[in-house]
Amino acid sequence: MGRVADKVALITGGASGIGLATGQLMAREGATVVLTDLQDGAGDEAVAAIIAAGGTAQYHHHDVTDEADWKKIIAAVLADHGRLDILVNNAGVGGNGLPVEETPLELWRATMSVNLDGVFLGVKHGVGAMKENGGAIINTSSILGMIGLPLSAAYTASKGGVRLLTKAVAIECAARGLNIRVNSVHPGFIDTPMVGGAIQRGGPARREAILQSQPTGQMGEPADIAEGILYLASDAAKFVTGSELVIDGGYLAR
Ligand SMILES: NC(=O)c1ccc[n+]([C@@H]2O[C@H](COP(=O)([O-])OP(=O)(O)OC[C@H]3O[C@@H](n4cnc5c(N)ncnc54)[C@H](O)[C@@H]3O)[C@@H](O)[C@H]2O)c1
Repeated sequence: MGRVADKVALITGGASGIGLATGQLMAREGATVVLTDLQDGAGDEAVAAIIAAGGTAQYHHHDVTDEADWKKIIAAVLADHGRLDILVNNAGVGGNGLPVEETPLELWRATMSVNLDGVFLGVKHGVGAMKENGGAIINTSSILGMIGLPLSAAYTASKGGVRLLTKAVAIECAARGLNIRVNSVHPGFIDTPMVGGAIQRGGPARREAILQSQPTGQMGEPADIAEGILYLASDAAKFVTGSELVIDGGYLAR
C-alpha cells in the first residue's frame, strides 16, 4: 500500500484494458488518478468504481491526437491538483491485419497519429508540466516495438517509434537537469478488448494461434502490466530512466 501515495497520475486510454487496470492499481496505492479516454461512459464507470473502493479519481474526455485537448487536460490537472507527478501515455489502437501493400496510407497515418503522435504530444506537454517538481513518464510500447510481426507494419513501426522517443526524451531530461524519468513498458499479448478485436476478426483459430505462440500457453492480464507501470512510476525506480520493461510471459526470450 502507498507505493504512489499523494502523487497525481494522468493515464490516457484509462477507460479500458491496461490503462484501466493501471488506474485501479495506482488508486489503491494512494495516487489521485486522472483517467482520460474517448469512451466517456466506460471512463465515468471506472472512476465511480475507484471512488466506491475508497480511491480518488476523475475522468476527462481526451483525444490524444489533438494538441488543444492536451493543453486543456494538463491545465485542468494543474488547476485541480496543483501538480502532475506521473503520466502514463497508454492510449493506443491495434494492428489492422493487412499485408503491407494493401495498407492504405490513411490507415498508416491513423495508427501513427494515436500510437506515436499521441505519445509525442503527451511527452511534450507532460515534461512542460513536470519541469518544476519532477516526475515520471511511462510510455506503453509493445513487444512489437522490439520485433516485427507479419501483417502489422503500421502498429509495429508506431511502437518502435515509442521505444526510441522514450530514450531520446529520457536522455534530454537528464542532460537538462530535469528530475523527470521517462521509460517504456513492453507488454506481450494481454487479454484486453484490443486483442479481443483481433481474435474476433480472426475467429477461434486466431485465439488458438495466439495461445500456442505463448511460452506459457497463456496471455497476460492487464494487471500484470499495471504492476510494471506502477514500479516505473514509483520512487522505487528513482534510478531507472530511458529503460524498457518487457512483461511478456517469456515471448521475447526465445
Ligand atoms: N493488449 C495487448 O496485448 C497489448 C500488447 C502490447 C501493447 N499494448 C498497448 O497497450 C495500450 C493499451 O491497450 P489495451 O490492450 O489496454 O487496449 P484497449 O483497447 O483495452 O485500450 C485502449 C484504450 O485507448 C483508447 N484510445 C484509442 N484511441 C484514443 C485516442 N485517440 N485518444 C484517447 N484514447 C484513445 C481506447 O478508447 C481504449 O479505451 C495500447 O497502447 C496498446 O498498443 C497492448
